[in-house]
Amino acid sequence: MSQTLLVTGATGKLGRLVLDELLASGKVAPSDIIATSRDTDKLAGYAAKGVQTRAADFDDAASLDAAFKGADRILIISTDALDQPGKRLRQHLAAVAAAQKAGAKHILYTSMPNPETSVIPFAPDHLGTENAIKATGIAYTILRNGWYMENLFMALPHALSEGKWYSASGAGKLAHIARTDIAKATASALASGSSESATYTLTGEKTHTADEVAVLASKVAGKPLEVIHVTDEQLAGGLKAAGLPDFIIPVVVSFDTNTRKGLIDLVTADAGRLSGQKLTALDDFLAASKAVLLG
Ligand SMILES: NC(=O)c1ccc[n+]([C@@H]2O[C@H](COP(=O)([O-])OP(=O)(O)OC[C@H]3O[C@@H](n4cnc5c(N)ncnc54)[C@H](OP(=O)(O)O)[C@@H]3O)[C@@H](O)[C@H]2O)c1
Repeated sequence: MSQTLLVTGATGKLGRLVLDELLASGKVAPSDIIATSRDTDKLAGYAAKGVQTRAADFDDAASLDAAFKGADRILIISTDALDQPGKRLRQHLAAVAAAQKAGAKHILYTSMPNPETSVIPFAPDHLGTENAIKATGIAYTILRNGWYMENLFMALPHALSEGKWYSASGAGKLAHIARTDIAKATASALASGSSESATYTLTGEKTHTADEVAVLASKVAGKPLEVIHVTDEQLAGGLKAAGLPDFIIPVVVSFDTNTRKGLIDLVTADAGRLSGQKLTALDDFLAASKAVLLG
């Protein structure tokens, strides 16, 4: 018997890609997919394809109860609420509680690598959510998503225009992964029908230091790019001077600290194993993103 698959955060960049993968697979009937968002108007394109669209706000428990009704496998996409400490974990716990109340058979969740040891301020949100999911007794798939290759767009276009990339990541390495590759793995896990509980860490196939990324980006852009190695404090000062909101500065700095300390230096085969597809290599991703890199 077919199972009903639900995707939260369906208007987000990852949520849309997961829905697109599910629809493109041809293995799931659109009517067996529920896409939720705080704003269902933004899901009209999916409704036109036969996907059920429902309103769900993690800050509104009643909306979650109505939205999750009848869903067998629920993908909880972590929210972007980083502005108020504690808010995101509260939101995720509300979603987990609603999934349990709705009688879901399987919960999937987008976590992060090594949340137990990470120095990133939002790591406890992910670990707390993972633990809450495990405490329900419902079968689960935790997808510990590595950093998107797309995150590099936050720094590289500006850095290339200046010829200088300020980094506190030192010689630390990480294996960025394309968001599409995470979406493919996630869609496969959601549609798999598996009742096993498992935790996967989704990374790219190869780690790079900031210096190595700079060499690749410079080659694609045809412009010189020097990595200026700075301390956490110097990076924070530069971000403040650049006008970043105060709440986000420690988060951005912590990404570099985390990398420098080797806390995200890992490569797994999980993403390709789940999707059955070859992963995008960083040099190919950057080459396909030349226009973005050149701003
Ligand atoms: N691994 C990485 O490198 C990385 C990078 C960035 C973010 N992330 C995490 O991965 C998630 C998905 O990434 P993305 O690229 O798709 O981010 P995105 O495009 O910014 O999407 C953020 C999502 O959060 C949802 N959301 C926010 N507040 C919500 C609420 N109150 N109730 C329900 N949903 C809420 C939004 O859903 P609606 O607007 O549809 O309600 C939206 O889909 C992010 O939210 C973040 O937790 C990971």
